[in-house]
Amino acid sequence: MRDLFLLDPTVTFLNHGSFGATPRVVFETYQRWQLELERQPVEFLGRRHDCLLDDARARLAEYLHVPDVDNLVYVMNATWGVNVVARSIMLQPGDEILSTNHEYGACVNAWHHTCDRTGATWIQADIPLPLPSDEEIVEIVWSRVTPRTKVLYLSHITSSTASTFPVAALCKRAREAGILSVIDGAHAPGQIPLDLAAIDPDIYTGNPHKWLCSPKGSGFLYARPEHHPWMHALVISWGYGDPASAGWGMGAPDAPLLVARHQYQGTRDIAAFLSVPAAIDFQREHDWESVRARCHALAVEAQQRVSDLTGIPAPVPPDHYAQMALCEMPASVDLPTLKRRLYDEHRVEVPVIAWNGRKFIRVSVQGYNTPVDIDTLLSALKAVISTQNVRIDAG
Ligand SMILES: Cc1ncc(COP(=O)(O)O)c(C=O)c1O
Repeated sequence: MRDLFLLDPTVTFLNHGSFGATPRVVFETYQRWQLELERQPVEFLGRRHDCLLDDARARLAEYLHVPDVDNLVYVMNATWGVNVVARSIMLQPGDEILSTNHEYGACVNAWHHTCDRTGATWIQADIPLPLPSDEEIVEIVWSRVTPRTKVLYLSHITSSTASTFPVAALCKRAREAGILSVIDGAHAPGQIPLDLAAIDPDIYTGNPHKWLCSPKGSGFLYARPEHHPWMHALVISWGYGDPASAGWGMGAPDAPLLVARHQYQGTRDIAAFLSVPAAIDFQREHDWESVRARCHALAVEAQQRVSDLTGIPAPVPPDHYAQMALCEMPASVDLPTLKRRLYDEHRVEVPVIAWNGRKFIRVSVQGYNTPVDIDTLLSALKAVISTQNVRIDAG
């Protein structure tokens, strides 16, 4: 599939997870939308804006199994989605926001801001690596619930540790306990089959621009209707107050509250949102279930080969990841040097991660990767590690 993407052929690209990568045909759709905007900006942003976005929202809602499209709106990215919630929520001093030690730092910052603003407390359940079973994860998280827990905030697939968390079970328990569930699904759409009706979170934000391969800046925010009234847009614009003023003041009098408030954020480029249906079509046309299965198998193989090289067992078992494999590095590796040498000397783009005093690389496998990419990673790792005075106990 390499030719279907725009990636630099001189780079072994094993970091789809950070920012995604867009197929040529989807990118062309994106550019066509931008050209159409510039042909008649007032027609596009003034008259057609709401209808175009309604269509793109409907396609995404169907893809995510969101029965009521009024509960879904495009936002720039998952950080934005988390910020909408963290910056709107009314909490009291002593209220608790429960999360884990695997969350994405930028979004944790948003919740720290909530704590500074309201006097609420950030509580972190410590989930160890090697990753325990789903049942144990649920129990570890739940053991930190108290009568003051108001919010449960979790990644669906974690960033630093590339682990899939049992969010459906935790959302169910949170609902029963009257705790607001907020799920950060930045890595989920496109990487795993996603059914929001089945997970049934209070709030879920995600990034089609990662594993669904849509252009950058196409995130979404889903919320059950009872939460729409307190969820304010990061940019207060026409949709605030009177919903009839939504959409550049030209009127969408019946716009649902979530859409009225969050869809118009001043003048901006909406082409990335409008290209999400093309990304969905691309994956359907290329039998993405099979692509995912092939990528998973290659990720598992990569993880096994790195373990064989380092002698360190896999920190996350294959049934807890899809297309991103976490591989632990020897403690004596210097991570910045490893990253620099993998890229400068071997043109291998792979993230190095420091987490909880341990060192990892996170290998992303996407449709355009082949076994040759994994061979290149392994020989590059071998070369760098053998000249870094790294102690390897086995393998
Ligand atoms: C778990 C998680 N949440 C949020 C984000 C932020 O995504 P974005 O920068 O698109 O907002 C990331 C990015 O990798 C992530 O891994």
